[in-house]
Amino acid sequence: MLRVAVARVNQPLPGGSASMPAWLGDSEQLRWTQLAPDRRAPFAASRALLRDLLQAATGVPARAWDVSAQAGGAPVARATHELAVAALHVSLSHRLGWVAAAVADAPVGVDIECERPPRSDPSERAALMLSPAERLAWADLAPDARDAALLARWTAKEAWFKAAPAGDAPWDFRRVSARACAPARANVRTWSASPLHVALCCADAGALADARCDGLGPEAATSSWFVHRVAAAD
Ligand SMILES: CC(C)(COP(=O)(O)OP(=O)(O)OC[C@H]1O[C@@H](n2cnc3c(N)ncnc32)[C@H](O)[C@@H]1OP(=O)(O)O)[C@@H](O)C(=O)NCCC(=O)NCCS
Repeated sequence: MLRVAVARVNQPLPGGSASMPAWLGDSEQLRWTQLAPDRRAPFAASRALLRDLLQAATGVPARAWDVSAQAGGAPVARATHELAVAALHVSLSHRLGWVAAAVADAPVGVDIECERPPRSDPSERAALMLSPAERLAWADLAPDARDAALLARWTAKEAWFKAAPAGDAPWDFRRVSARACAPARANVRTWSASPLHVALCCADAGALADARCDGLGPEAATSSWFVHRVAAAD
């Protein structure tokens, strides 16, 4: 089972940013109090979307889920009230008024990016996030294809990082490679429908191939990727 969805953040929050949604769990409520006011609407929206996905995947009502919210860690979802539900893996992402959520029966990672005017030179970004071999191939691309190539690899690597066990994936993305591949070999799938770019990581290539990204139209372009760690020298 693998589900992913994106949604727009409703701004402002009903009741204003000081009004905490009553359905948030204990860990989420604590985190809420620590968030800057402008981060609260995306936080609530991502967690509402996740509960909708959990309900769709299991039949357990959205409000019967407790989701952890430790800063800097992957969220953990569990059904409350001793409902018999197999352990599920979940992932969240938010960017510029959009949120994404994913649910799977195996480790999963999701990343969403929204296009915006670049704030740095593409070659500087390439130097920070591409492996040496990727950088050589990237430099051969036509200049008008370079930003899109960086964005696709960035989202793929972020999704892969989130699906990895805590502390296992290198923080330095120059030590991670993302290459386009056939769906049968993929551990990441991406969807692009300007201005949104979504990446979903899961080790189950069949489930990835069957997945659809709810909230994106059928016109979204999709690609399959194999993301893996590489030696520092590549
Ligand atoms: C942790 C990280 C993946 C979060 O990504 P982001 O683009 O900053 O933010 P996103 O909105 O996409 O994702 C945030 C969500 O990811 C989840 N998350 C946070 N840390 C996580 C982790 N270590 N593993 C999995 N999920 C994590 C949380 O649910 C968080 O949402 P919340 O803060 O509302 O609880 C990112 O900051 C990071 O550390 N990336 C690793 C490598 C990297 O950036 N290297 C730099 C190369 S130049």
